[in-house]
Amino acid sequence: MHEVYIIDHPLIQHKLTHIRDKETSTKLFKELLEEVSMLMAYEITRNLDLMEVPVETPLMQTTGKVLGGKKLAVVPILRAGLGMVQGIESLIPNLRIGHIGMYRDHDTLEPIVYYCKLPPDMDQREVIVVDPMLATGGSAAAAVNHIKEQGAKRIKFMALVAAPEGIAEFRRIHTDVPIYTAAVDEKLSEQGYILPGLGDAGDRIFGTR
Ligand code: URA
Repeated sequence: MHEVYIIDHPLIQHKLTHIRDKETSTKLFKELLEEVSMLMAYEITRNLDLMEVPVETPLMQTTGKVLGGKKLAVVPILRAGLGMVQGIESLIPNLRIGHIGMYRDHDTLEPIVYYCKLPPDMDQREVIVVDPMLATGGSAAAAVNHIKEQGAKRIKFMALVAAPEGIAEFRRIHTDVPIYTAAVDEKLSEQGYILPGLGDAGDRIFGTR
């Protein structure tokens, strides 16, 4: 059973507090989310494999290290996950980006994939699935299911804020996928909002509230 990792770096926690603040503008919200996503990606990619390569400095020949392991892909869950991509992209060379969109069926309440475009060779990649809010866990779990069906074997899930209910549901289904989050909040509201949370992440990123 994989763990839940809370990334409690002081800079992340500081920025998260401003992200939560209802007075924070759309522009600042988006910038802070990108910054936090970059910092979280830095922590999450700590264990990437390296290989040694020769390099010639202006003074002499030496040996350096470059990324040598599996190629990476990030897959934002539409639409709020989009707000995390640029921060991650600015950090990771040669990052491939997939997209997955989910909606909830009115009758069954099951999450359904309505759009999915992934890079090729998903079985060869380390995949980071991102959504700022891990709320009920239903759409996150369904998205990861679908991504596994496309061949992905090594997946990490990254959220900004998670609800205990969402963590429990996600871990029940995906014991092999670690969750990384900056905070585990109190609970879900009856309407499915994370409390205290930050409101609707998509609305706050895109200014649609
Ligand atoms: N999605 C959001 O954007 N916010 C929540 O609080 C829960 C789900």
